[in-house]
Amino acid sequence: MKTASRSPFVYVAAAISGLGGLLFGYDTGVISGAILFIRKDFALSPTWVEVVVSCALVGALLGAMGGGALADRFGRRRVIIATAALFVAGALGTAVSSTVAWLIAGRIVVGIAIGVASFTTPLYISEVSPVAIRGRLVSINQLALTCGIVVSYLVDYALVDIRGWRWMFGLAAVPAAVLCAGMWWLPESPRWLVGQQATDRARAALRRIRGAEDVTAEFAVIQRSLAVQAGGWSDVFAPSIRPALVVGVGLAIFQQVTGINIVIYYAPMIFGYAGVTSASASILATVGVGVVNMVMTVVAFLLVDRVGRRPLLLAGLAGMIAGLGALGLAFRLPDLSGSLGWIAAASLMVYVGGFAVGLGPVFWLLIAEIYPLQVRGRAMSLATAANWGANLLVAVTFLTLIGLAGRSLTFWLYGLVGISAWLFAWFRVPETRGRSLEEIEAHWAAGRHPLALGTAPHTA
Ligand code: BGC
Repeated sequence: MKTASRSPFVYVAAAISGLGGLLFGYDTGVISGAILFIRKDFALSPTWVEVVVSCALVGALLGAMGGGALADRFGRRRVIIATAALFVAGALGTAVSSTVAWLIAGRIVVGIAIGVASFTTPLYISEVSPVAIRGRLVSINQLALTCGIVVSYLVDYALVDIRGWRWMFGLAAVPAAVLCAGMWWLPESPRWLVGQQATDRARAALRRIRGAEDVTAEFAVIQRSLAVQAGGWSDVFAPSIRPALVVGVGLAIFQQVTGINIVIYYAPMIFGYAGVTSASASILATVGVGVVNMVMTVVAFLLVDRVGRRPLLLAGLAGMIAGLGALGLAFRLPDLSGSLGWIAAASLMVYVGGFAVGLGPVFWLLIAEIYPLQVRGRAMSLATAANWGANLLVAVTFLTLIGLAGRSLTFWLYGLVGISAWLFAWFRVPETRGRSLEEIEAHWAAGRHPLALGTAPHTA
C-alpha cells in the first residue's frame, strides 16, 4: 500500500477527471455575466431572464436523477466520457444559438451534463484513490469547481467590452474536450469492474493506477466486499443503508439551504444592498468572494486527511453561522460611518470561507465514501438530486424571502438553518478519515451507529 500511495498516476487521474468539477463551476458561474448581454440581444422580460438563468438547474436536477443508474450499469468512465461530449455539444450549441428556445435547450443540455458530472467526478476519484489520500484527492473536485467559478467571472469580465456572451459559453468546449480525451485514456474504476465480475480487467486497472505490480492485498479487500450482488433501487432504501442515506441527503439539503448560492449567484446584488453602488467595485468584490472560496478550499484540501471530515465540517459551519449573523446585524444597524459595505463584505468572506473549508468539499467527499459499492452510483445520484432540488428551491425563493422578511431577517433565517445543520453534523455525520470504502460498508452492514465509525477498530 505504501508504494501505491506514492504513484503519481492517481493524481493525474484525479486532475483529469477533476475537469468535470471545473466545468460544473464554470458553467454555473458563467451565466451571471452572460445574462447581461443575452437580456438585451433577445429583449428578454424579467421572467424570461429567470428562465434562462435557472433552466440549467432544472437540467442538473434531471442529470443527477438519471446519472446514477447509468454509472452503476455502464461504468464510471463511460458515463464521464458521454458527459464530456454533452458538455462540448452544450457549449457549442449555446454559443451559436439564434433563438431563445435554442439557447434554453442548450442550457438544459449543459445542465444535464453538470448534474451528472457533479457526482460522477467525486465517485470516480474516490474509487481509484488509496485510503490515506482519498479525502484530498476527492477534494480536487471541489477545488476545480471553485477555480471554474473564478475563471468564469474573469472570462465574463474580460469579454464585457466585446459583449462576448457567445464566447463565454463556447470556451467551455475546450476543457470539456480535454476531459473527453483524458477519460478515454484513463482506466475504468477497478471497484466498478470487480462489481461486474471483470476480475482481470479490474486487477490490470488497479495496477496501472497504483503504478505497482503487486496489488494483491488491496484487491482482495475490494473483492471480499463484493460477495453480495449488485443492487437496484430497492437496495438503496434497505434498512442497513438508511443511516447513510439520511447523512447524504441531509447534508445535500443543508449544503444548499444554508444559502451558499445566493452568494455565488447574487453577490453583486448583496453588495448593492450594502451600498456598494459602482458596478466595477461590486464585480471586484464578487471576484474576491470567488477567490476566498477557492483559497479556503485549498485549506480543506490540505487538512481533510489529517484532521478529518467532521472537524472541518463543524468548524466551517460555525464560520458560516457567524458570517450570516454578522451580515444580518449589519443590515439592522444604522450606517453611521458609511462602513456597511465593508462589514457586509467581511461577513460574506467569513461565511464563504466557512463553506469552502467545510460543507462545500466535505459533502461531496462523504457521499462518495459512505455508500456500499452495490448501490453507490444510485445512492449518490439520490443525494445529488436532493442537492440540486434544494439549490433550485433557494434560487427561486431568495428574492421573495427578501421581499417578505427583509434583508436582516432573511440572513438570520439562513443562520438558523446553519445551526440546525451544525447539530445534524454533530449527531449524525460519521468520521470516514483513514477508513477504506470496504470498512465503511461493513460498518453499515453491521447496523452500527454512524458516529461509532470514527472510533471502531480497523477491520480491513
Ligand atoms: C455546491 C454548489 C456551489 C459551490 C460553490 C458546491 O459544493 O454544491 O452548489 O455553487 O460549491 O463553491
